Amino acid sequence: MIEFRGVHKTYDNGTKALKDVNINIDKGEFVFIVGASGAGKSTFLKLIMREEVPNAGEVIVNGYKLSKLKRREIPYLRRTMGIVFQDFRLIPTMTVFDNVAFAMRVTGASKREVRKRVPYILGLVGLQNKARNFPQELSGGEQQRVSLARALVNNPSLIIADEPTGNIDPEMSYEIMELLTEINRRGTTILVVTHEHDLVQAFSRRVIVIDDGTVVSDVAGTAEPPAASAPSAGNAVVADVLDTIQDVPTEKESDTVDAVLADIIGRNGGDEQ
Ligand SMILES: Nc1ncnc2c1ncn2[C@@H]1O[C@H](COP(=O)(O)OP(=O)(O)OP(=O)(O)O)[C@@H](O)[C@H]1O
Ligand SMILES: [Mg+2]
Repeated sequence: MIEFRGVHKTYDNGTKALKDVNINIDKGEFVFIVGASGAGKSTFLKLIMREEVPNAGEVIVNGYKLSKLKRREIPYLRRTMGIVFQDFRLIPTMTVFDNVAFAMRVTGASKREVRKRVPYILGLVGLQNKARNFPQELSGGEQQRVSLARALVNNPSLIIADEPTGNIDPEMSYEIMELLTEINRRGTTILVVTHEHDLVQAFSRRVIVIDDGTVVSDVAGTAEPPAASAPSAGNAVVADVLDTIQDVPTEKESDTVDAVLADIIGRNGGDEQ
């Protein structure tokens, strides 16, 4: 599902964030990515969601070489992913409910679907009582869970979570990981960046260690593999989405909305080419 072939990423200021990364992640896997601060973990994720592009090598997702993806195709790639950003990227002018609902509405979901699904997802992350609150009225951990709810709401085939429990107490962190495990059991591929070694130990999944831009260890997990998931859809996943989904309706409320929209589904205002 995800393949890195000889990937190098050097930022404009000369920082070598990733050096010759070669990795395969299959559909249905649950992978922890660990490493010191500045090691290159977020960069690794940003290449998968095509927020950054490599200087050399190829990143392949669902059979598509991301370097060949046209800008207008990025939204369709992002729609196959649920992304939990390290810095949350919530929309401050929207309630918790709307922050999550918004991600559904841009895919053309009906009012009825939104009214049913959003409270269910907020319940899963323990925020059913915060639906009417605004992000600035929430604790860091609560904001993080809104970000997770938004990532889950469209039932993506891949969840990419950058420190999803970084601001959450140990008990809630454990519950969040259990939730991700359950979602994985249903066939969703999950990548989780974390600093929490206790969690990594407790869940016994594949662990990729990145140190100073290099993958220094990649050890398979001992946890029971997910139950036979649906047959691998391979290229069909993105192809299907490309074929069937109409253009994204524009929903302009503010520049922040546009920016978050670009982050979560790859659309950037009138930036189509
Ligand atoms: N936009 C950028 N421009 C220049 N350098 C960057 C940029 N983003 C990240 N870097 C640098 O690239 C390296 C890897 O950064 P990255 O964000 O991938 O680390 P990380 O492993 O996610 O760290 P953390 O655990 O602190 O989140 C670091 O040296 C960082 O300073
Ligand atoms: Mg990071």
